Amino acid sequence: MNLDFLGTLQRTGMCGELRAENAGQDVVLMGWVNRRRDHGGLIFLDLRDRSGITQVVVDEKVTAAHAKADAARPEYVVAVKGRVRRRGEGLQNPNMPTGEIEVVASELLLLNEAKTPPFSPAEDAIANEEVRLKYRYLDLRRTEMQANFALRSRVAMAIRNYLVGEGFLEIETPFMTRSTPEGARDYLVPSRIHAGSFYALPQSPQIFKQILMVSGFDRYFQIARCFRDEDLRADRQPEFTQIDLEMSFPQMDTIFRVAEGFLTAAFDAAGIQLAPPFVRMTYDEAIHNYGIDKPDMRLPAMVDLSDVLTQQLRETLKIEQGLPVLALVIPKTGRLSGTARKALQSEVRHHFGDTGLDSLDLDRLAMSPNQVFQLLAGQIVSRVHLELERFCGDEDLTDATVIVVTPKLGTPALWNYDPQWIYKRVGALRLELGAKFADKHKLFEQTHTAADFKFAWVTDFPMYEWNEETKTWDAAHHPFTSPHEDDIRAGRLTNDKGAVRALAYDVVLNGTELGSGSIRIHRKDVQAEIFRSLGMTDAEAHERFGFFLDALEYGTPPHGGIALGLDRIVMILAGATSLREVIAFPKTAKAIDLMVDAPTPVSDLQLRDLHLRIATRS
Ligand code: AMO
Repeated sequence: MNLDFLGTLQRTGMCGELRAENAGQDVVLMGWVNRRRDHGGLIFLDLRDRSGITQVVVDEKVTAAHAKADAARPEYVVAVKGRVRRRGEGLQNPNMPTGEIEVVASELLLLNEAKTPPFSPAEDAIANEEVRLKYRYLDLRRTEMQANFALRSRVAMAIRNYLVGEGFLEIETPFMTRSTPEGARDYLVPSRIHAGSFYALPQSPQIFKQILMVSGFDRYFQIARCFRDEDLRADRQPEFTQIDLEMSFPQMDTIFRVAEGFLTAAFDAAGIQLAPPFVRMTYDEAIHNYGIDKPDMRLPAMVDLSDVLTQQLRETLKIEQGLPVLALVIPKTGRLSGTARKALQSEVRHHFGDTGLDSLDLDRLAMSPNQVFQLLAGQIVSRVHLELERFCGDEDLTDATVIVVTPKLGTPALWNYDPQWIYKRVGALRLELGAKFADKHKLFEQTHTAADFKFAWVTDFPMYEWNEETKTWDAAHHPFTSPHEDDIRAGRLTNDKGAVRALAYDVVLNGTELGSGSIRIHRKDVQAEIFRSLGMTDAEAHERFGFFLDALEYGTPPHGGIALGLDRIVMILAGATSLREVIAFPKTAKAIDLMVDAPTPVSDLQLRDLHLRIATRS
């Protein structure tokens, strides 16, 4: 194949820009052949660049250009000189922004050829993700992916502009550092100069941003890459990007306002107008109402019927005293058929297994000949109706499916009389049924307007989490989070760890945790006490965080901050369900980069340089 040189040719514009009013103009376009159609005397090339596609017509009368168009294949790189003209009557394509025009070629250059690709970037959806990842450069050519990364760039820029406007300084923190305590495993980098020593890649810039507050920077932010060696899921990558910020002398409200501000700017960049402030709820409220600390409020809350059931009613109905009885409401399902209801019941049974939780639907409750049931049904219906009204105005209850979950007397099984367990378990069922009914009954709006995006702040998280495996208390957020001042005063750090509340908060969107933050500990005595309460001796704390404890001794201001997952924000805005759609070169669920084939073994020479020996090679 004889390829052409570019010479001094320059393009005059982009493929997606031309409109009817450009008719008559001479243009030079460059890009990839998206599709080629040969109509004998005329060859049509759809020319693609990142802005879109323009149809190019090459007439056989322009002999040289026609011969080249004849040789061109999909994904060849070409340059076209030609004149814009309106397409003839009936030949316009209303689905293309450039569908009213075409470019009549006077000259065509073949700048590069392309092998037949394993899949066509012209296709909308490609089934095999492994092939997509291996040939990521081709995958990224697809219009959808180009749009995702244009969106990502706009969103990041909007956030940066907002924060700079609010007086934040962007400061970079190191990649080669010490272990940071975010709870995952570290990626380690062996040192050549210091045999047997390792840097850790940061799980977050947490300690550095706090030290920047000690240094008086007052308002820091960074669009920061973080590294965590943890089990991967659709919303977790080993390398990801945080919008990370820290402020001196803030109230929680100050941080909420800034985060709401940059989220509003980010959504605006995607054409969605949010209306902060976001809903706020405590951790306890989230568990009671949604059974989870990252509530998806696109479904009604759980309805707590515990107080409807008197002790006597519980006895009659064989329901445990003192444990919650919860109703789940799935709106818009319509009246379920007998078969559908049976299937639902068996699914619910399957879900609860032999836990001793039992469920019955409202209809059964109301139709029961037992007067006690009937009496109960009236009250339950009015409670459930209230929630439905709160949720979506005046929805008809007969259009909803309602399930009442009760802990059966004398069958504690897994829940061990723990109300939290029941809230969480029923919360999980709520999400499962929501997902099951979502598509069929169009539960979730998909209008891509602000109403589709249900944000919430969740506050007052517990400070500690009991680790059943190690039988120790772990920090629920991270060990730099300040406990509630009242809980410090009341001595709960030592006496009643389970009851200590943290000044920690999450921002949640449609059931996804977008970000987490906290007011930090700024006093060395409190920080040392927290390390102790986490089972660290003073010597261990000094060994791991001595530099930080030292820094706290030199006039540390009260401070706090937050970090939000940029990838998660863009994923939701792009309407994607995996981070891989919005990270240019992501890893698979097994943490492999299929394109560059990483990780790989290294040479013995490299290992020797790093003072390493591989004990077992699988
Ligand atoms: P946290 O660990 O909660 O907090 O992380 C903050 C946010 O980062 C995102 N995120 C991830 N995104 C993709 N893949 C991952 N593996 C991943 N892990 C976390 C989430 C999450 O909400 N230093 C604290 C923040 C602070 O206290 O200021 C921290 O990192 O969106």
